[in-house]
Amino acid sequence: MARAFIEEKYGSIVFEELFGNSHAVEMEIGCGKGKFLVARSIENPGTNFLGIDRVSKFMNIGKTRAQKRALPNIRFLRAEARAFLNEAIAPESVSIFHIYFPDPWPKRRHQVRRVFTAELLRLLHVRLAPGGLVEIATDDKDYFAAMKKTIAATAELWENVRETMNERILDGMNKTNYELKWAAQGRSLFYAELKKR
Ligand SMILES: C[S@@+](CC[C@H](N)C(=O)[O-])C[C@H]1O[C@@H](n2cnc3c(N)ncnc32)[C@H](O)[C@@H]1O
Repeated sequence: MARAFIEEKYGSIVFEELFGNSHAVEMEIGCGKGKFLVARSIENPGTNFLGIDRVSKFMNIGKTRAQKRALPNIRFLRAEARAFLNEAIAPESVSIFHIYFPDPWPKRRHQVRRVFTAELLRLLHVRLAPGGLVEIATDDKDYFAAMKKTIAATAELWENVRETMNERILDGMNKTNYELKWAAQGRSLFYAELKKR
């Protein structure tokens, strides 16, 4: 199934055309139902927001919410992250990437399906505006350990790396669906923030 998405082709996106202005753009990768991004777009009308997910079923809930409120500064697109970043997103065009609770694929033989890789970080780095941020969250301790290794392997790309536990780094009051779900179960939540060098 994943292979079909990876083989998809995307045309390049011009954010000024997509949003009708040249405001800063934040992207959420694997946005699920889009709860976080819709709330953030309401609170930040001077910023544009693009949510992508390779499955449209849940993302359409966010899309409908945004349409009902006629929010002018948010768009949702069904897309596979790596191919989409490679083909559609221009260098230095995104101010913040949000990656929250990516599927952990705990079985060793499935771990190749994880979205958070050194290749992804390199793609994000090129597409980040100067001083841009990557915000990360996971409830999976092993995945977080693997993420930290990946971050260390790309250390030359980042001016600053922050880590916290049970304390959101950016936009503390605004939670994702999975964040609320795992917090309600008392799980430990791991966060990181990377600042582009
Ligand atoms: C566990 S959910 C988290 C959703 C949301 N970020 C949250 O915190 O509530 C992970 C999401 O990532 C999406 N996803 C997984 N791999 C992806 C990929 N390669 N490209 C785009 N989306 C992906 C899944 O479809 C799913 O909606």
